[in-house]
Amino acid sequence: MFQQLKKDIAVVFDRDPAARNWFEVLTAYPGVHAVLLHRLNHWLWNLGLKWIARMMSHIVRWFTGIEIHPGAKIGRRFFIDHGMGIVIGETAEIGDDCTLYQGVTLGGTSWNKGKRHPTLGNDVVVGAGAKVLGPFTVHEGARIGSNSVVLKEVEAGSTMVGIPAHPVGSPEHKRATGQVDEGFDAYGQSSDNVDPVAEAISQLCQRVQEMDQFNKTLLAKLVDAGVDVKDVKMPDIDTDCIELGQQVTKTNNTVKESDDSKA
Ligand SMILES: CC(C)(COP(=O)(O)OP(=O)(O)OC[C@H]1O[C@@H](n2cnc3c(N)ncnc32)[C@H](O)[C@@H]1OP(=O)(O)O)[C@@H](O)C(=O)NCCC(=O)NCCS
Repeated sequence: MFQQLKKDIAVVFDRDPAARNWFEVLTAYPGVHAVLLHRLNHWLWNLGLKWIARMMSHIVRWFTGIEIHPGAKIGRRFFIDHGMGIVIGETAEIGDDCTLYQGVTLGGTSWNKGKRHPTLGNDVVVGAGAKVLGPFTVHEGARIGSNSVVLKEVEAGSTMVGIPAHPVGSPEHKRATGQVDEGFDAYGQSSDNVDPVAEAISQLCQRVQEMDQFNKTLLAKLVDAGVDVKDVKMPDIDTDCIELGQQVTKTNNTVKESDDSKA
């Protein structure tokens, strides 16, 4: 039990870049308070002390703005960032290593007494303000975009956005584009996001290589067809142009250095 509570606190350092030390996390993270007290409330609920559990969760709501029904089942290393406005219903189930941001609702859409709230698999991230409504499963590794409204089952590893939520990234898409998730994506962002300028340059380089190959093939075909290609050659690289580029870079650096020293 103590080990589990320790992990609930330790997880903050992995998922919130702003977390500085244990004292700060213990005293200034409403999400941590709500989760730790929910563990106690859930235990009381299962003992049959339902009113006390409900009252305690109500008091936690006053202090944290986070309403977790004591009947909700929550897995290990659960992290609520910021917290205010979160509602987690009685029959909601949350797997291990899930993260919820402020304003999330794991709610129901019917008055039926049975299972009416969603189940989150392991490693699910639900963005700020998202509503996940109904007794379906959001499978392992899925990410729900901020302010989305999810009304049906979500495939493992998918990213869902919009109202009603639709997929913008599926495991098939990730495999096809060679994207691989590595560990927790802070704020649900893919760790595979690339610098768009670097990506454009890399695509240009690839295109140049393809054109080189194309030219070689073309020349070989011309030679085969008996065309004299002796005089055909690639133009030399314009070294004047390179020197000019180096001069410009040098001048820019000098200007920046003098600006920095003035500042
Ligand atoms: C949904 C999310 C996980 C997607 O991250 P991603 O995989 O890096 O995806 P991208 O940002 O490349 O977006 C993919 C597409 O979805 C759209 N999109 C992303 N988030 C969206 C959202 N919340 N609602 C609607 N559309 C969204 C993008 O515009 C993009 O559309 P396009 O392909 O037509 O341009 C992320 O945007 C998100 O909402 N994370 C939650 C963050 C959060 O709540 N932070 C709170 C911190 S306090």
